Amino acid sequence: MSQLPFPESFNLVFFGGTGDLVTRKLLPAMYQCHKNGQLVESGRLYCLGRQNYTRDEYLAIVEDKARQFVPKADWDDDVWTAFSERLSYDKIDAERPDEYELLKQRLADSPAEVTVFFLSVAPSLFAVICTNLARQGLNGPNCRVVLEKPLGHDLASSNAITAEVGKHYQERQVYRIDHYLGKESVQNLMALRFGNALFEPLWRRMWISNVQITIAEDVGIGSRGGFYDGTGALRDMVQNHLLQLLCFVAMEPPASLDSDAIRNEKLKVLECLVPFTEEDVHAKTVRGQYRAGVSGGHPVAGYLEEKNIPADSKTETFVAIKAEIANWRWAGVPFYLFTGKRLPTRLAEIVIHFHDVPHHIFPLPSSGSRAPSKLVIRLQPDEYIRLYLNAKAPGNSMELQPVSLDLDFAGKFKTRRAEGYERLLLDTIRGNQALFVRQDELELAWRWVEPVLNTWASDPSGPKPYAAGTWGPSASSALLSRDGFGWHDEG
Ligand code: BG6
Repeated sequence: MSQLPFPESFNLVFFGGTGDLVTRKLLPAMYQCHKNGQLVESGRLYCLGRQNYTRDEYLAIVEDKARQFVPKADWDDDVWTAFSERLSYDKIDAERPDEYELLKQRLADSPAEVTVFFLSVAPSLFAVICTNLARQGLNGPNCRVVLEKPLGHDLASSNAITAEVGKHYQERQVYRIDHYLGKESVQNLMALRFGNALFEPLWRRMWISNVQITIAEDVGIGSRGGFYDGTGALRDMVQNHLLQLLCFVAMEPPASLDSDAIRNEKLKVLECLVPFTEEDVHAKTVRGQYRAGVSGGHPVAGYLEEKNIPADSKTETFVAIKAEIANWRWAGVPFYLFTGKRLPTRLAEIVIHFHDVPHHIFPLPSSGSRAPSKLVIRLQPDEYIRLYLNAKAPGNSMELQPVSLDLDFAGKFKTRRAEGYERLLLDTIRGNQALFVRQDELELAWRWVEPVLNTWASDPSGPKPYAAGTWGPSASSALLSRDGFGWHDEG
């Protein structure tokens, strides 16, 4: 994560140039980097896609998208015009080796210190694209390849991708994106933990009772039915984003910000995750599927009524999991992971629940218990850190009430908060792998989720239904209440 020097020139090649990710996220992110003066003048962007567009036609399409996806306050016509000078478009059939000659020529016409190939395509194309690039010699030491998830469907398919890509690119040339790691708030978690001595002594089983990590979405699956039904929430969110967040919460302090120093510590956490037996899967996981309900005040369809979803689909749109880490720091501390679509709101947060005091000297409320202290790290939509403590309520009695110490990042730092992809794209150009997933991490993450996938696949009962606009099946609250905990509700 340390600041490596930015190269004097770069070529960034997007495969899947007409796809959603490139037009809605990646090009708007590069526009922001350009606007902020973070790109060297000689940086070029080559977009490749299957459609037969001229450069002008392509530019019109991406400008239209960028206008929708760049916040109004950041849009500037002149800046866009200057940015678009960097862009070109070529049609390519990625499966045909001969079609790479044009790309090779284009890159040879503007040689650069670094060339990054961003594969925003179906994973079934990763191997063939890497092979075809290598045939043209586009895999030398100054070339990097960026892979977007899903990185496989299970352990075997993920390993197959690794092996194929590995035939042409070394691990230090491979950048596996998990866009959650590009979020400022996730990097802030590192700052909180390792930039302050305060939390370190408390950050362990002696003082922490449980950890809850939630990524909730209010949206449904939208137009992604075809992709989503073969994927489900466990593969889409848990295997990657949630496990990565868990690693950042649980890892030991790395010795430095070096890519491998950080990734070695994350790997150790993944190695210590307690594997699931079939029995555990029944006891410690809950899967759900949304039914028709109300979202944002409007009636919405259930998952089975969405486009391209078979009427008998058993794909989960909600997952709750109790994970455990078998090491000295965390043994016995449950990490509850939650994610779902069509939940009441969009939010991502990590909540660290501390133990209660060992002996109560203050009067307890009529409920008979008082909430122990907790630390809420809100990642989105707003970004804050909130430490809940018990304080004396004003008055003559010694009753306590929860109060919070708040650090609101938007209020504190007036500068614009960059989108995750901005940081990650700059890192691929700079050659910083700290926020990218290493092959061994990926493999362990798949190893851990696979028994869950297999047990679910052989269990005819399928996911539990929940109404759109609610917090998922009631069984997920039971997962916590059985252990004597409640789900954190920030309200
Ligand atoms: C993606 C998933 O990786 O993350 C999507 O494929 C999900 O299904 C998205 O909606 C959530 O990302 P964010 O940054 O909007 O929370």
